[in-house]
Amino acid sequence: MIQTCLFPAAGYGTRFLPATKSLPKEMMPILTKPLVHYGVDEALEANMNNMAFVVGRGKRALEDYFDISYELEHQIAGTSKEPLLNEIREQMRKATFSFTRQNEMKGLGHAILTGKTLVKDEAFGVILADDLCVNENGEGVLAQMMKIYDRYRCSIVAVMEVPKEQTKNYGVVSGRMIEDDLLVVDDMVEKPDPKEAPTNLAIIGRYILTPDIFAILENTKPGKNGEIQITDALKFQANRGMVLAYKFKGMRFDCGCLDGFVEATNYFYNKQHDNK
Ligand code: G1P
Repeated sequence: MIQTCLFPAAGYGTRFLPATKSLPKEMMPILTKPLVHYGVDEALEANMNNMAFVVGRGKRALEDYFDISYELEHQIAGTSKEPLLNEIREQMRKATFSFTRQNEMKGLGHAILTGKTLVKDEAFGVILADDLCVNENGEGVLAQMMKIYDRYRCSIVAVMEVPKEQTKNYGVVSGRMIEDDLLVVDDMVEKPDPKEAPTNLAIIGRYILTPDIFAILENTKPGKNGEIQITDALKFQANRGMVLAYKFKGMRFDCGCLDGFVEATNYFYNKQHDNK
């Protein structure tokens, strides 16, 4: 059983400035719920109930979101507004939330390593909350990955095909197909130029990692952009043992950029209207 889901959430969210000057990007709302809320729902659906956040300066709003707001609760108690808090109350009832700080921005690998203190010596999930995933007719991406983990007991990354010219925005994998939608990774490159990309299979912000990744990260040298990359650590893990890449079922919105954010907003808005 995997209990912990790690949320690296220390980035500046510069693409959403000036909003992110004082608002963590993970708190940007899609309709009425912040991105992080969708991530926690996905983790809960995968039966993880220990939410661990790696935050940076100026991210207090995240901690407050998962805490009781006494003044507000007092004001709206018994009114028609109270049910609007049902969903967040439900998350707070089902999960625990812990936080640690990454005080220097040294890359996703470094952020995950910083989270070590919140993760027991067991496998854990990772959600990058600005990748919002939905699977209309089935289980969420992390729950799908959990089923694979139950069978293979190794690190897994979620991947999707992207147009070749976009490989420079992602970690890219290549490997050998062992099942429909499942590959054994043999190579991984962080944000390759389209000319150098081994494939067009891009890693999205969902991972299941075995705990030996921490020792590997401790010895991983800065890579692309001078940052400690989880992609490099996973490549090492793949060469030493096995890492899987899973072509997930469902859709992923890149809410870290304006186009994806607006697409997700429209998608959820239309869905809400269709249900009325
Ligand atoms: C990170 C990872 C990258 C991955 C991406 C998914 O990049 O480094 O390998 O493909 O997340 O969203 P970032 O988008 O944080 O630059």
